[in-house]
Amino acid sequence: MYRWLIRPLLYLLPPETAHHVAFSALRLLAALPGGKAVLRALYGVRDPILRSRVLGLDLAHPVGLAAGFDKNAIGFEALYAAGFAFVEIGTLTARAQSGNPRPRLFRLPKDEALINRMGFNNEGSAAASERLRGNRNAIVGVNIGKTKVVPEEEAVADYVASTELLACHADYFVVNVSSPNTPGLRNLQSTEKLRPLLTEVRATLDRASPDRYIPLLVKIAPDLADADVDDIADLGLELRLDGIIATNTTIGRSGLQTSAAEVEAIGAGGLSGPSLVERSREVLARLRRRVGTKLVLISVGGIDSADEAWARIRAGASLVQIYTGYIYGGPGLPSEIARGIAVRMREGGFRTVADAVGSALETPSAAITNDGSRPIGKGRVA
Ligand code: FNR
Repeated sequence: MYRWLIRPLLYLLPPETAHHVAFSALRLLAALPGGKAVLRALYGVRDPILRSRVLGLDLAHPVGLAAGFDKNAIGFEALYAAGFAFVEIGTLTARAQSGNPRPRLFRLPKDEALINRMGFNNEGSAAASERLRGNRNAIVGVNIGKTKVVPEEEAVADYVASTELLACHADYFVVNVSSPNTPGLRNLQSTEKLRPLLTEVRATLDRASPDRYIPLLVKIAPDLADADVDDIADLGLELRLDGIIATNTTIGRSGLQTSAAEVEAIGAGGLSGPSLVERSREVLARLRRRVGTKLVLISVGGIDSADEAWARIRAGASLVQIYTGYIYGGPGLPSEIARGIAVRMREGGFRTVADAVGSALETPSAAITNDGSRPIGKGRVA
């Protein structure tokens, strides 16, 4: 029904408005008495073979929602009820900001892709922190970025301010240094800038939450050169990060069916969807080769089917996330992908997701998902 009825109706609206309408409808449904139970009945996946413990979290399956969909933490419980095993909110910045002028989100229907230059429009970390306080059972990752007006030299303090506000409410934490839409942000991916940033955020998490260890991950761009991907992998090992999320959107425009003129008319922004598949897979495989079993890798970028999600798991992803696929595929996609993974696991004779990841890498599975068999504690992660 989504593809032939709801999606064409949403296409009548500008993309950003369509997002607000669809998201509001989901939240409204979830807020009705029994609404979340209906969502769980429609989209929940409770197949024991899919359950895993990753980053110390008990997940129903490996498919989560990528950052950017619920920037302000207004609907994470609805999204969780609607079949995502975990929901990454944000990107949040220490100060509220309006983002770039509209239009700033564009559909490329021929490619089932999107281009966005939202520019971290969000109500700020303090507002989101208030909303997260009410979280009852959703598994929530918190993704933070730099406030646009804050100069690069003061970036660390800005990330730390967000961390202080949000740490207590996060099941895991993500330092986003890979959006193409905040000028200069991706410079923070260089190891000399990233090292102090991640070190300070780690220390702040430990200070803000002394009794509960909060896993820390970094989210990287697909446009990094291979050598830079390797450097970040090495830094992740050096700093004992918990994991890496790869990848964000690309500034590239290759592999599109949409005419060059149309693409050019859209202008700047990050491209997401199937054209990211190749690079996103490559970065994942490269990272996995480099970090061995020591870090959790979350793969994101162009995943829109169980086949693609399975390919990522077999290339070393402990978890996957989707965004653009959800926009084009509709609300049934997370559960469809999760069920498809279960089918492939049974066909392959795997008992757990970690087995599927581990056997492809010829390594013991527990190490890859940080499944709790080794303590997650201060100073020792992944
Ligand atoms: C994003 N993405 C994103 N990522 C992030 O870390 N913080 C953010 O605020 C946003 N915002 C955002 C807005 C929009 C409209 C889109 C389409 C994407 C990137 C997203 O999380 C993901 O990494 C990429 O979109 C690649 O995955 P998909 O979309 O190809 O599945």
